[in-house]
Amino acid sequence: MTTHQIVLIPGDGIGPEVAAATVRVLEAAQAPLQWVEHHAGVAALETLGDVLPEQTLDAVRERGIALKGPCTTPIGEGFTSVNVQLRKRLDLYAAVRPVRNLPGIQTRYQNVDLVVIRENTEGLYSGIENEITQGVVTSLKVATELASTRIGRWAFQYARDRGRKKVTVMHKANIMKLTDGMFIRCARSVREAERFTDIDYEEVIIDAGCMKLVQDPTQFDMLLLENLYGDVLSDLCAGFVGGLGVVPGANIGTDCAVFEAVHGSAPDIAGKGVANPLALIMSGVMMLNHIADTRGDESCRAAAGRIRDAYNQALSDGRKTRDLGGQLGTEEFASALIDRLAG
Ligand code: NAI
Repeated sequence: MTTHQIVLIPGDGIGPEVAAATVRVLEAAQAPLQWVEHHAGVAALETLGDVLPEQTLDAVRERGIALKGPCTTPIGEGFTSVNVQLRKRLDLYAAVRPVRNLPGIQTRYQNVDLVVIRENTEGLYSGIENEITQGVVTSLKVATELASTRIGRWAFQYARDRGRKKVTVMHKANIMKLTDGMFIRCARSVREAERFTDIDYEEVIIDAGCMKLVQDPTQFDMLLLENLYGDVLSDLCAGFVGGLGVVPGANIGTDCAVFEAVHGSAPDIAGKGVANPLALIMSGVMMLNHIADTRGDESCRAAAGRIRDAYNQALSDGRKTRDLGGQLGTEEFASALIDRLAG
């Protein structure tokens, strides 16, 4: 049996807690994985003197896949976001965040099943900020045809591969005519030029789009967004289905993929053993399916299916962490899944 080497980046705050719980669950599901631990964020700054050490990036390049806990970006000058840098340096241009209702979690909405696709390398996250003169600063929003086209192509291909019906681009091209204008033009062109016209497509101005989303999120199937809008709307959409503890994510590039939850390092609950590990466990499920898709190892898809069954069952049985109104701690929730994997 092939064993896949995965770079494990535990991260900061609740990161090491949810990463440890996730590793236990993946091992109990007999996923054929071998962990190679590397660090990023404050954890790396303290031990290696750099928030994003070259050896961590090299390890991901070499193995092709990482599972990552959230990283804190130290506040202050000289630190650009670890997460933004990691995605840029590895050219992980497509962020994928599936948002679905889960059994046993009551929310305002039912039948939410949407996928947020976020362009991960450009926009206002270029980190190019300048002080023009005292009291006047700028932040540069960068958009290229290359990146706007490839994320459009990626979204339509994803839609086709997964049987999705509609891609909605949310934008502000009425104001940012060049940058957002290019983003929608590229999505439109790649759809026409590469014959994705079987997939419905719409463009919605983002302020009205937010109103439509909160009125009825089930009217959307896939959202295609530039970097900042994707960041903001991912958290908003998480609120439809139970919050940040239940939304997984993947950052996909041409050569590597890094799987991580949408949530951050949650300093308010770090070290207390109460964080919900489910978002990272679900990211692990996405990772196993990705290995099956890209390397043809069906034992990974089978392990992913077992974990999905285990968490659906645990949630249905009311076994939940506190963010979802339950009583369980991080490790207790992982154990509830492991019991069901064994049963
Ligand atoms: P956050 O996502 O860490 O926390 C927001 C709220 O959600 C907090 O009340 C937190 O307790 C709760 N929460 C988040 N994840 C949870 C979980 N798994 N279980 C239960 N409750 C959970 O966002 P915040 O506070 O804005 O950021 C904190 C730090 O995380 C910052 O340094 C930020 O830069 C970093 N961050 C890192 C990300 C990454 O590594 N991908 C993504 C987002 C933020």
